[in-house]
Amino acid sequence: MVDLMGEAQRLLAHGKGILAADESNTTADKRLALYGIATGEEMRRQYRNLFLTAPGVEKYISGVILYEETLTQKANDGTPFAELLQKKGIIPGIKVDQGLEPFPEGGDETITKGLLGLPERLMAFKTTYNTGFTKWRAAIKIDGTRLPTNQAIHENAKRLASYACEAQRAGMVPLVEPEVLLEGAHSRLRCREVLVDTISTLMSALEDQAADMSGVILKTSMVLSGSTSGRMDTPEEVAQDTVGVLLETVPKTLAGIVFLSGGQTTEQATANLAAIEKEAKAQNSPWPLTFSYARALQDEALTIWAGKEENVPAAQAAFIARLQKEADALGAA
Ligand code: 13P
Repeated sequence: MVDLMGEAQRLLAHGKGILAADESNTTADKRLALYGIATGEEMRRQYRNLFLTAPGVEKYISGVILYEETLTQKANDGTPFAELLQKKGIIPGIKVDQGLEPFPEGGDETITKGLLGLPERLMAFKTTYNTGFTKWRAAIKIDGTRLPTNQAIHENAKRLASYACEAQRAGMVPLVEPEVLLEGAHSRLRCREVLVDTISTLMSALEDQAADMSGVILKTSMVLSGSTSGRMDTPEEVAQDTVGVLLETVPKTLAGIVFLSGGQTTEQATANLAAIEKEAKAQNSPWPLTFSYARALQDEALTIWAGKEENVPAAQAAFIARLQKEADALGAA
């Protein structure tokens, strides 16, 4: 029997975070192109190699969420990526949802697919690569009071909970991620309201399906004004609302909570994390909290790397410097 609670707590070790490196091949190519870097399988391998082999990364990172392709690839020295992480004491994780499709009930909402054949895929990842945790992402869109619909929130929560139970049956910790999207003109208050609905619906679905809450990690957005609202929230505002939502919706028994960066700038994501940690401490919040960023951890390093071998050491140093700032935000020594 796998000790899911113990594995979740290893992922949530104080001062460390979880690197999201699970962009699909299409998203990874788009990301590379954004920095003027060539695309394709070999460039995606070099992209992963840059982050996963950064000297000292294990001081700051407890786990890495990978995309299937990366599990089949090797680092520059020929070590398979999953093995390389395990040697460093970092837990390899795998994104197991199969992306978004239009939600049939509505207009422009999405539902996450991937439940079909999931037990078999989970077993294959576990036995072939010894992955310790998994992720499933749903996307919740805000548009005034029109979106999200209750149906989309409920159906996404139900699928997240089904996935979580399957992952636990396969002996892996589920990271449940109902991302409330930053895109839109909505207010911070509206985002707060949607997050309360989204997270409380998900927690009920997990309890209904009898998930072991002590072995589930919630990956959530912060409470933020929409990206086109013209408003820039202060870290204190974000922290107060975000911790408030979590205290209202998340049972004490949940293993812990990690945050996505969701399109915030790197500096914003770090400052907001620091304020959230401070507020959570002041409120005696019961769970470990940490970061699980992709973009906010990668941006500086990708800018420096630009796809050139000679820039790798400087890019890796920038990545480690950013991780040190996140560790400082978490109040780690
Ligand atoms: P961002 O930090 O770039 O939002 O990515 C985190 C993630 O895992 C999104 O699914």
